[in-house]
Amino acid sequence: MRTVTRHQIQTVVNGEPTSVEVEPNDVLLDVLRTALGVKSPKIGCERGDCGSCTVLLDGRTVRSCLVLAVEADAHEITTVEGIEHDGLTAVQEMLIEQSSFQCGFCAPGIVLAAAELIELVPRPTADEVREAIAGNLCRCTGYESIVDAVLAATGSGTSATSRGASS
Ligand code: FES
Ligand code: FES
Repeated sequence: MRTVTRHQIQTVVNGEPTSVEVEPNDVLLDVLRTALGVKSPKIGCERGDCGSCTVLLDGRTVRSCLVLAVEADAHEITTVEGIEHDGLTAVQEMLIEQSSFQCGFCAPGIVLAAAELIELVPRPTADEVREAIAGNLCRCTGYESIVDAVLAATGSGTSATSRGASS
């Protein structure tokens, strides 16, 4: 019988030093949800298309269904749970205020994509927000209320005003 060599990886997950044993072909998404109990990254397409499994790896968005857990060794992983230091972020507050989501399945990935964008571009344009969340599919909304919420949270206006609409 073939034996599988397991690996002990050391990561920082949402600010907490974490050690976990994984198999060589375990993907980060499964390890986060199953071994570590971090449930915000969602299982969607599992092939890199939908963005529902998005996490930050050293501050940059990755699709955790495409990242082997062993690749996260010695790196820092942040999920939505880890960006909520003292309550919700401004983007999350605005997403709630504007009822931007319906089922919410896409929300964790979109919140992290927005967080990455805002770190790089503190006052993004509507087009920059759209581009940042372009890889995060939402089956329920038309995206505009999501874009508006990010713009409102960053003091960048609304997508309607940025498009030059009169009302
Ligand atoms: S579940 Fe990872 S991109 Fe869809
Ligand atoms: S709110 Fe349902 S998938 Fe985005």
